[in-house]
Amino acid sequence: MKLKIVQAGDPVLRQSARPLSRDEVRSGSVQQLIELMRETMRDAPGVGLAAPQVGEPLQLVVIEDREEYVVGVPPERLAERERAPVPFHVLVNPRLSVVGPALGDGSRLFFEGCLSLAGLVALTPRAHAVRVEALDENGDPVAIDAEGWYARILQHEIDHLHGRLYVDRMLARSFMAEASFARHWRTAPVADVCAALGIVPDRPG
Ligand code: CO
Repeated sequence: MKLKIVQAGDPVLRQSARPLSRDEVRSGSVQQLIELMRETMRDAPGVGLAAPQVGEPLQLVVIEDREEYVVGVPPERLAERERAPVPFHVLVNPRLSVVGPALGDGSRLFFEGCLSLAGLVALTPRAHAVRVEALDENGDPVAIDAEGWYARILQHEIDHLHGRLYVDRMLARSFMAEASFARHWRTAPVADVCAALGIVPDRPG
């Protein structure tokens, strides 16, 4: 069973989600929601899903980056992205802080997509390293230090809990159909993409 993923334009994607109490996290309804979000994320497939994306304005996200998602991506592109598999996990009421500088030398620029903006991607700057403090699926505190692609996923999913989408942060000239990305840019270095599309990376938009 899976849930319907709402698309950009649905007001729930622009609202701030509310925190969950420890008891709520442990409740049958939230445990069931977690299981349904896990199935929905895998079915999509996606590397993360936030509760607002399934119409629930709650501070709850699920994350999982599987090896099979990067089949066919050249090793040098994966290394550039610092992308490695991340096991399934749940974050409730996450608080994110950037480690080191947020922009310039401290940020990374790669293509990013979202299940709520189906079929589209754009170059989106994100901090290289973050720290996240949250509750897990049992309502117990967890702290995560992440870099590279995992840090990007965390920033993207936690943005959803504050009504933000990657289009708020993207370099607009790089906004494109996923089909165009697959045809022209999937294996290209980001510097080549920027040169071809007339993007100066340090000047977003
Ligand atoms: Co998203």
